[in-house]
Amino acid sequence: MKNIYLIGMMGSGKSVIAEELASISELRFIDLDAAVVSDVGKTIPEIFMEHGEAYFREVESNVLYDVHRLENLAVATGGGIVLGARNVDMMRHSGHVVYVQRDVDDIIASIDAISRPLLSANPENVRRIYEERRALYEGAAMITVDNDGTVEEAARKIAEKVGLSVR
Ligand code: S3P
Repeated sequence: MKNIYLIGMMGSGKSVIAEELASISELRFIDLDAAVVSDVGKTIPEIFMEHGEAYFREVESNVLYDVHRLENLAVATGGGIVLGARNVDMMRHSGHVVYVQRDVDDIIASIDAISRPLLSANPENVRRIYEERRALYEGAAMITVDNDGTVEEAARKIAEKVGLSVR
């Protein structure tokens, strides 16, 4: 089975949905942010503060490069993965790219801004970032799924759309 890549805004539910997808199928869950953190040995706020966003994007792309050569993965990407055209190419060539859409007000109400440097502890920045990226998410996506119910519902909708067998 090809990989399934979940793309979308911070706080859209990519990680929990990818984890759920893996738990109901034969796919293995991978979180790209967690892989970057373990590669660098620092938290995401530390990486941004000490090395800058460009360095974070470089490591993120390198991690995606390794991941895109594997199969059978449910991959939760970071919200900025679509900023790199090469990232989008790698994902589209190695799997299903699924845009997880979630209402911006719901994101703002639930998001942990402290661990997300781009929000600078202000969840309202989500609106601006969403407007800036909306076309990139839509352009990269092969499938779009609304995260407007439970995590399990979203995971099952994705499985159905990509033809993944689930238990
Ligand atoms: C980012 C999203 C974060 C993380 C980093 C940058 C972004 O991942 O990669 O803070 O640019 O949208 P999540 O989407 O998992 O929060």
